[in-house]
Amino acid sequence: METYIIEWLSLIFRWLHVITGVAWIGASFYFVWLDNSLQNPPQWKKDKGIKGDLWAIHGGGIYEVAKYRLQPEKMPETLHWFKWEAYTTWITGMLLLAIIYYLGADSYLIDKRVADLSQLQAIALGLGIILGSWVIYELLCSSQLAKNGLVISALLILFATTIAFLLTQLFSGRGAYIHFGAVIGTLMAGNVFRVIIPGQKALVAAIIEGKEPEAKWAEKAKLHSTHNTYLTLPLLFIMISNHYPITYDHNFNWLILLAITAITAIARQFFILKHKGLHKPSILIVSAMATLALAILIAPKQIMPSVTVKNIDKSQLTVQVLSIIKERCATCHAKSPTDEVFSVAPGGVALETMDDIHQWAPQINARSVQSHNMPFMNKTGMTQEERNTVARWLELKDQAGN
Ligand code: HEC
Repeated sequence: METYIIEWLSLIFRWLHVITGVAWIGASFYFVWLDNSLQNPPQWKKDKGIKGDLWAIHGGGIYEVAKYRLQPEKMPETLHWFKWEAYTTWITGMLLLAIIYYLGADSYLIDKRVADLSQLQAIALGLGIILGSWVIYELLCSSQLAKNGLVISALLILFATTIAFLLTQLFSGRGAYIHFGAVIGTLMAGNVFRVIIPGQKALVAAIIEGKEPEAKWAEKAKLHSTHNTYLTLPLLFIMISNHYPITYDHNFNWLILLAITAITAIARQFFILKHKGLHKPSILIVSAMATLALAILIAPKQIMPSVTVKNIDKSQLTVQVLSIIKERCATCHAKSPTDEVFSVAPGGVALETMDDIHQWAPQINARSVQSHNMPFMNKTGMTQEERNTVARWLELKDQAGN
């Protein structure tokens, strides 16, 4: 019953997280586009204090959008603010992290092969790293070092590398990735909360009081919104990364995480330049080539089972494979799993009969032979010899063409 309730909570918060995330990133994409696409307005608009404007069509109507250099002649009665998209995405994300990775720490966060942590230790480390990263980031960005673009960029890259490495030395691959995402999400929501919104409040207050707004706010807001812009695509990758053990389960998962973060951040640059009317497809080509290079570099080595498994006849092998899969996989992958954590077959994949094994053969090959991603954290203790046996059977099956 308890796992059933947790499944529902996870479903609801994941759904809300996606909805609010779409609203936040959608608004962010729109405003980055808007800001970069503004055109030089005619003189009569400039006289009114308009810095740039543009025309757009959407949903059956034509829109005229204008950005003021500072303030309009009269402050409008209603001014729309964009902040709750960010806050609710962060809140639902943290709840989801708690439901899946903290309540279910023993299954999803702790990997005894990486570090032998207790549930409490894992949660404390996870939350500590998220909060600690935010504090360090804030200190770095408000220090003198932030004045020099190159220095601050180098420091932030070093900082990200340390966090990625540290996380993968503490948690399961997917737990490490999702924490890296939680760190990025926290920095981004924190930027909205601590810098962007207070900056906007200071601007409105100055306008109402008829004073010059302080320049420091504009500078800070610019630095932090730039970070948010480049972090959106990496964050979106991390949100879906738990589907891709080819990335998080690799021995060099922390380097892969950093590489994908860099590739996706660079890809964002293409769109930013494009909004400004600069077409630089070379940027996207570089990102695509880097992705291809990464895919080739981290490809699992082809296993050569024939060498390691004694040549026994196929029917004997089939009996062995069925018993291996039943013992090592069906505790979770069954209509009624006996595992204490998984109450329904993960991914809807049941592995109880020879028919099941035939149906899922390519996936079994990918996740238990070519990679050692299954059994989940090798909970059932599958041996290399057993993997070789399964590999040999799969090979014979392929040769027989069935
Ligand atoms: C302790 C429980 C457990 C055991 C044992 C286990 N798995 Fe899994 N399996 C999971 C979980 C949880 C997922 C979903 C998360 C994921 O995809 O990484 C999963 C996902 C999968 C998937 C992907 C399903 C999809 O979404 O398409 C395959 C294939 C798979 N397992 C095969 C196996 C094989 C083969 C074995 C035995 C060698 C095995 N598993 C043993 C828990 C387990």
